[in-house]
Amino acid sequence: MARPLDSATREALVERVRFYRDLGLTEFYRRPVDPALVAEDEEQQQHAQTETVLDQPPALFADFQPANSHEEHPIPARRSFPEPPQIAAAVPLADRAAALQMIREDIGDCTRCPLHKGRNKIVFGDGSPSARLMFVGEGPGADEDAQGLPFVGKAGQLLNNMIAAMGLKREEVYIANVVKCRPPGNRAPAPEEANTCTPFLFRQIDVIRPEVLVALGATAVTYLLGARQPLAGLRGRVHSVRGTKLIVTYHPAYLLRDPRQKKEAWADLQIAMKELGLKAPSRG
Ligand code: URA
Repeated sequence: MARPLDSATREALVERVRFYRDLGLTEFYRRPVDPALVAEDEEQQQHAQTETVLDQPPALFADFQPANSHEEHPIPARRSFPEPPQIAAAVPLADRAAALQMIREDIGDCTRCPLHKGRNKIVFGDGSPSARLMFVGEGPGADEDAQGLPFVGKAGQLLNNMIAAMGLKREEVYIANVVKCRPPGNRAPAPEEANTCTPFLFRQIDVIRPEVLVALGATAVTYLLGARQPLAGLRGRVHSVRGTKLIVTYHPAYLLRDPRQKKEAWADLQIAMKELGLKAPSRG
């Protein structure tokens, strides 16, 4: 016969059940925790203790050619979103990874909006489930659609450089998009497409609970804030979304087309870095 649980274990279990329930996930108890993920969690914690302090601004994310990619298209977003769940402060990485996996399984072989007709792969997201910093883009392009990963094309190379400029590794942040399937011809997602897909993005945000979100471009900020506003008026300050700080900057594809704006984008990223207590790595 099973022994009764001591009160600390029971409390921990109740907390875990609440965590999943608040996310709308009710089947967690059927799923075993992968020991490999627990090991990863320990590694993450070790990494957090050895954060590098960097004192000079890096070379700005240069050396990329303009790509024929997304335009900045602000579009109407659904205005009311469910409030973020109240979840415990320190959620182990294994739980977050498992919760993300459940969201992915919930998406399944999605046919909820017309974008599924033209997609090759669903682009769920990429990075650390316990990232302190999360980037949100618009939607997959051709490279992302082929590989099933966000920001792996030209704009992705620039985003990687932006992340490195902040003194971070791509694996340390989390990257997702407003829509998870490629809009035909890289057009901006239609409101009904974006509004169908964003509940999954919000669930990802609620699981990861990054300290800072960076909205890349007008589509991301429109759907994160739930309101269409010109990007220029939103840059330069810290917004709040689902209990997380939100910084607004240009989409990397736009920066590829107009590299003069990289300076502006770097100013935005520095706001994010300040919020995270990060200093830029020194050159050389
Ligand atoms: N542009 C986006 O907005 N997202 C991607 O994943 C790639 C390019």
